[in-house]
Amino acid sequence: MIQAAVAAQRAPSIFNTQPWRWNIHDDIAELRADHDHQLAAVDPEARMLILSCGVALHHARIALSATGHVPEATRLPDPHDPDLLATLRVASFTPAPAALARLHQAIALRHTDRRPFADQPVPETTLTRLRAAAHQQGARLHLLRPDQTAVLGAAAYAAAISELANPDYRTELATWTHRGADTGDGVPLHTAAPTGPRPVPVRDFAPDAPHRPVHTEATDRHARYAILSTDGDDPAAWLTAGEALSAVLLTATADRLATSPMSDVIEVPATRHLLRDLTGHTGHPMIALRIGIPADATQPAPTAPRHSGTALITTTSADA
Ligand SMILES: Cc1cc2nc3c(=O)[nH]c(=O)nc-3n(C[C@H](O)[C@H](O)[C@H](O)COP(=O)(O)O)c2cc1C
Repeated sequence: MIQAAVAAQRAPSIFNTQPWRWNIHDDIAELRADHDHQLAAVDPEARMLILSCGVALHHARIALSATGHVPEATRLPDPHDPDLLATLRVASFTPAPAALARLHQAIALRHTDRRPFADQPVPETTLTRLRAAAHQQGARLHLLRPDQTAVLGAAAYAAAISELANPDYRTELATWTHRGADTGDGVPLHTAAPTGPRPVPVRDFAPDAPHRPVHTEATDRHARYAILSTDGDDPAAWLTAGEALSAVLLTATADRLATSPMSDVIEVPATRHLLRDLTGHTGHPMIALRIGIPADATQPAPTAPRHSGTALITTTSADA
């Protein structure tokens, strides 16, 4: 269990807040939401916080499965304790199929890649696998057509304008992009995207930085964009969305694709509603994704820090 929780520490999270805690006792791991790491301006409802915890839960499930432990997860097990998001136990043992080993390896290889992608189309076979990965976790991945990408681009632009006009958002952004070197969290500015024309703008993590790398050519011509949606829009659905996001990201990484999640279009209510048109009003949009072939596979994406392996894990015994 401890190894699974340590593997889950690699999970992506909103502003790299890593807003989860694990408590491991006997053969059970409890996953709890950590509201001390909630972003009050970006995420007042804790949608992205719980979604991030869902990603960590799926990472832990993959780490267990890949080592032959069949995990059993109970989601939101106690209505009187809403911060207890899930319990995880090992139900049985079975040899793991090779596909799981690839997903397990992808946990360490995956990074959010905000750099422009190569001018090469993403193979349709891979996109079909990504759709299936989301479906298996109880969510839907809508791959956008070019005309729909233009709508997503307009939504991302509008979301950026709305958020950057909010002083509380700017303060939160500055806090989480200027964490001390040893905090083990936050979004370091070297992982932010260079500015330049794109069909869909990615979040500007450094709106006030004086000297920024700029690319002038239009890029991301072959990037694919997708919206992940769920039937509901409540904590159970947010957890499902996180598990599905993890499955999609790890499947993409195992297929050597680069990815970057985009949640600004969801954080702003007006653009979140606009995205429902793109999903044919089937369910609730939870997060958008940019998917592509890395421009230079020999240059891995810059990495964001993590809390040390066991910093967010406590272990207690039943008779403690
Ligand atoms: C729920 C969620 C929302 C995110 N939103 C964005 C976003 O809007 N823009 C972005 O560039 N990255 C976004 N990310 C990526 C995180 O910033 C990233 O996971 C974190 O900084 C850690 O970096 P890593 O993914 O390279 O490990 C999001 C990730 C998650 C899980």
